[in-house]
Amino acid sequence: MSNIVTLKYFNSFAMNVCAHSINKVYSEHELLMYWKKATEHDKSVLLLGGGCNVLFLENFNGIVLLNRIKGVLVNEDDSAWYLHVGAGEIWHRLVVYSLSKNMPGLENLALIPGYVGAAPIQNIGAFGVELQQFCEYVDVLQFYNENRIRLNATECQFGYRDSIFKNKLDNQQYAIVAVGLKINKNWYPILRYKSLRSLNVSGITPYQIFNFICKLRQKILPDPAIIGNAGSFFKNPIIDENMFNTLLRYNPDMPYYLQRNGSVKLFAGWLIDRCHLKGYRLGNAAVYNKQALILINCNQRATGMEIIKLASYVRNKVADRFSIWLEPEVRFIAAQGEVDALQLLQ
Ligand code: FAD
Ligand code: EPU
Repeated sequence: MSNIVTLKYFNSFAMNVCAHSINKVYSEHELLMYWKKATEHDKSVLLLGGGCNVLFLENFNGIVLLNRIKGVLVNEDDSAWYLHVGAGEIWHRLVVYSLSKNMPGLENLALIPGYVGAAPIQNIGAFGVELQQFCEYVDVLQFYNENRIRLNATECQFGYRDSIFKNKLDNQQYAIVAVGLKINKNWYPILRYKSLRSLNVSGITPYQIFNFICKLRQKILPDPAIIGNAGSFFKNPIIDENMFNTLLRYNPDMPYYLQRNGSVKLFAGWLIDRCHLKGYRLGNAAVYNKQALILINCNQRATGMEIIKLASYVRNKVADRFSIWLEPEVRFIAAQGEVDALQLLQ
């Protein structure tokens, strides 16, 4: 097997790297078949949905499986709809489908790129809503013993851009094959996020929120089909109250979001912007000029290492000014699979 297939069109950063093969997989049986074959040949396996949250650092020395297990099953009772969704459904299409079937609730999560199977991994979120508010269970196929297990929401250990799937399971040993969602029937609009506050709560419909969010996202986020990127490169930092009070004293206009446990979420985009890095370019990598939390691949020519150099630069600048070390949200993929992003940035 040699590196012959380009991954450029399978990762939203548009990194021009190769893998031994790229395979669309439509069933659990096929997943197991590919995994066994790869293991027999001592090859690594990488599961991808849309490649919208990964940064390839070099050629991937193994096979890529694109999870395309389809299907949406809907049940309901008096209080909720229950959706069992194949991991290979496109997330945004699921949002559109649920609204078209009069099952409102997912509208704040419109236009998040990628597939349903990846949604629980970082507990996708936007505009004051996170997947965990809907997720009842995640079905996981364990390659090594061929068992399919179901993790309930508590077992998924959801947090801000976090879950058990991100840290605690070896990501070459399992595949998410389906996600169970519960959408409550007592719909109400969630408009507390700053950029939604201009909307009038009374009489607003789910479709109006959906359309507003789609337009807003299209205005501030770069379209990966045109500009390579993976959305927010860093997570928003969460700091303790003491540190927050000190920072606020020197930066009274700093936006923040109080957490239930007394800690405070700051906005990495604002911190980077305050370091005057919007539009900053290093080689073929740049900080997006409309949203400082997004790093972009200029003219589709950047390498993974160029993005990392820029990310390290940004991180150091923010740390110098605010004593906060930003942590990446994006997953870094090297020749054999995922590598520790934080370690690489140091
Ligand atoms: P991939 O990038 O293909 O995979 C991500 C990780 O999950 C990889 O480590 C991969 O190996 C693993 N993986 C994928 N599928 C499976 C599976 N079935 N089983 C096991 N492991 C798997 N995220 C948000 O939360 N909110 C946003 O508002 C948001 N906006 C974005 C805007 C843009 C323009 C872009 C490019 C990205 C944005 N993101 C956002 C990030 C991204 O959309 C999400 O992380 C999304 O869930 C990624 O889905 P994917 O299918 O592309 O995952
Ligand atoms: N800000 C600036 N300058 C910038 C960018 C942001 O000052 O260049 C300020 C904004 O004015 C605002 C605050 O920072 O006061 C927050 O900005 P925004 O509402 O754009 O959201 P964000 O924190 O940058 C987060 C998520 C996004 C999600 C949006 C909307 C993370 C890491 N990012 O971005 O998710 O779409 O909120 O809810 O939590 C992703 O994860 O890839 C992603 C795009």
